[in-house]
Amino acid sequence: MKNFVEYKYHVFFCTNKRPEGHPRGCCAQKKSLKLRNLMKAKAKSLGIEKVRINASGCLDKCEQGPTVVIYPEGVWYTIRKEADVEDIINEHLLKGKTVERLLMNKKD
Ligand code: FES
Repeated sequence: MKNFVEYKYHVFFCTNKRPEGHPRGCCAQKKSLKLRNLMKAKAKSLGIEKVRINASGCLDKCEQGPTVVIYPEGVWYTIRKEADVEDIINEHLLKGKTVERLLMNKKD
């Protein structure tokens, strides 16, 4: 198929925003859009190909966010700061290694 790109990784980064005081909170309150844009810019500057880093709606792990899930593995992460973004890029996207310290708590 013409113009069809097969991605090696597809990253969904929740940037959902809820009103102040919502009991579940939201990833937007935890600077998720800034972190997502940073990940996208860093991946581009490194020339990483076949990776798509999408802003997404709520992924239903609000309390543990900012929420990120990477496919095809379906690995869930909590990404809180720039150093986390760098580890995801350097370990997961470039080496295919799960970043254990950033794995989301699977009990919630
Ligand atoms: S608001 Fe991000 S997972 Fe629900």
